[in-house]
Formats: sequence, structure tokens, C-alpha cells
Amino acid sequence: MISDKELLEKAKEAAQNSYCPYSKFSVGACALFESGNYYSGCNIENSSYGLTLCAERNAISNAVANGEKTKLIKIAIYSPKSKKCFPCGACRQWIQEFSQGYDTQIILEDEDLKAILYHINDIFPYSFKLI
Ligand code: THU
Repeated sequence: MISDKELLEKAKEAAQNSYCPYSKFSVGACALFESGNYYSGCNIENSSYGLTLCAERNAISNAVANGEKTKLIKIAIYSPKSKKCFPCGACRQWIQEFSQGYDTQIILEDEDLKAILYHINDIFPYSFKLI
């Protein structure tokens, strides 16, 4: 199974593919599933700004498009412009959806370049659920 540090490295690599001509704020993410498979994504902006896709949702979309069916257990997120790049509210909702009841770990890089862990249930409490 890929380590947290390696997952962060994958997120860093993905950030290099970011399409962010408007904000110049590149983000990369790498989502690890219970199967052991992992999928990367970067943010993709648009001249119609509201159509921007975040790195986390791109990584999860990549997983779904590749047939991933297991629980999302970890997601690493990285931006060279922000130490500890927390997911936005929309991405928290997406992470929660694909957690399938698991308390997914959010892996960020701290000021000392160490992998630091958070949990989706802590950073996104009282979330919307249909059932
Ligand atoms: N962004 C992400 O990729 N993930 C987030 O969770 C928050 C923001 C991107 C969107 C936009 O391209 C840039 O960061 C600045 O908001």
C-alpha cells in the first residue's frame, strides 16, 4: 500500500499539470481507495470562472471513471502556494460521498514538510446525507 508521504508526492506531481492561468494557484490531489488503487487530479480553471474544477474532485472523478468501487480511505492535497491546503466545502462534500461511511484521512503537508493527518468527520461535521 502506498505511504502517506508517497501519496503527497503524487499530489505534488499532479499539481504540476494544473491548468490555472487565472488564479495561478496550482493544486494537486491523490486519492487512495481501499482496493489499493490511487488516482491523481489537478485543478482545471475556465474563463467562465465558476466552471473551475478543483483537484480533489478531479482525482475522485478519475477514480470513478476508471471503475473504482471501494471506499475512499485517504486523499493527499498539495499546493505550492499554501502550506496545508485544506479542501474547499464542495470537495469536502465529495470526499464524504465516496468515503462510504469510512472516516477518510485528509493528508496535507505542514510547514516542516511533514505529512499531517486530518479526518473528514472532523473537518466536515453535520454533513448533508440523503439517508
Ligand atoms: N482549488 C482546488 O483545486 N481545491 C480546493 O479545495 C480549493 C481550491 C483550486 C480552484 C482554483 O483553481 C484555485 O484553487 C484557486 O481557488
